Amino acid sequence: MNREIRWGVVGPGRIAENLMADFAHVPGARPVAVASRSADRAAAFAARHGLERAHGSYRDILADPDVDVLYVATPHPQHHAIALAALDAGKALLVEKAFTATTAGAVEVVERARERRLFVMEAMWTRFQPAVVALRERVADGAIGEVRSVQADLGVSRTYDPADRLFALGLGGGALLDLGVYVVSFAQMLLGAPDTVTTAGSLFPTGADAEAAVLLGWADGRSATLTTSLRYPTPGQARVFGTGGWIDVLPRFHHPETIVLHRTGADPETITRPQTGTGYAHELAEVTACLQAGRTESAVMPLADTLAVQAVLGQAADRLGIRHAEDPDGLG
Ligand SMILES: NC(=O)c1ccc[n+]([C@@H]2O[C@H](COP(=O)([O-])OP(=O)(O)OC[C@H]3O[C@@H](n4cnc5c(N)ncnc54)[C@H](OP(=O)(O)O)[C@@H]3O)[C@@H](O)[C@H]2O)c1
Repeated sequence: MNREIRWGVVGPGRIAENLMADFAHVPGARPVAVASRSADRAAAFAARHGLERAHGSYRDILADPDVDVLYVATPHPQHHAIALAALDAGKALLVEKAFTATTAGAVEVVERARERRLFVMEAMWTRFQPAVVALRERVADGAIGEVRSVQADLGVSRTYDPADRLFALGLGGGALLDLGVYVVSFAQMLLGAPDTVTTAGSLFPTGADAEAAVLLGWADGRSATLTTSLRYPTPGQARVFGTGGWIDVLPRFHHPETIVLHRTGADPETITRPQTGTGYAHELAEVTACLQAGRTESAVMPLADTLAVQAVLGQAADRLGIRHAEDPDGLG
């Protein structure tokens, strides 16, 4: 009999609200507590989701002995301080994407997790979508030969509001960290860490990026062409090109239900794999299973991959002149 894993939520905003219903699909996972910077918001969230305990500060949930793992759902620059303190308090972590605001911040969190021998995973839910699992299986089986190139786009058109976390630099604003992380992570999943990063794009008046095109290169000629934007909408499609064909990942590729396999010389094969719940159940199940098994990393979303993705995002941000920073007061 596997032990029950008790979850706490840090930062009860939009994504935390959306994810809660998916716990019902994860046997062995029980959400028990929430922490907000406001006692009222914590109490309201706990009441809406039937949680036993509501903490009016992030520090309080770190001291809650009856929480095994924290789901960190604050804006990106606050992840770093919360994650370090949580690890020092002995908590395992599922940290929303982007994992941190900076590459150095990500390295520090990963080093601390390794020192403490505690589980940490980036909440890159794409990797756990059943259709993406099917894609990886087909690629591993050689269905399209050797993967040589990846294309992916993820853009939305959002009205500029300098106070909104999508645009405010102090809240990690910009397309790269919010949506670009998906296209970069998808390419990294299939091709590994690139040798070169070339970037074009533009900034909002806040200094956060409005749009970015990123070309990743490998010394052996492989490549990825990636687009992200908060200025214009895109379909959210991905394509994986191999020496023996290609795979279309139908929109939106970061939580797809359908892929279409085009093997050279064969009819296209449509593969549909619906997600469970809203699509967050799969990452919750992974963390729960890893903790039950005593693992400190996920094999599907390992920390080395998170660091590789964060390094690409950091280089792309540097090229565009964006100055992302961790919030030293992220713990509140
Ligand atoms: N996986 C996905 O599909 C997905 C989707 C959307 C977002 N995300 C990620 O989840 C994270 C949160 O995004 P969100 O859209 O849920 O953001 P949000 O609605 O703004 O909520 C973030 C929460 O963080 C807390 N917080 C802590 N420090 C804060 C600060 N300095 N300023 C503002 N809020 C602060 C706030 O809760 P309290 O003040 O009550 O503590 C707030 O409600 C981001 O890293 C984002 O990339 C993931």
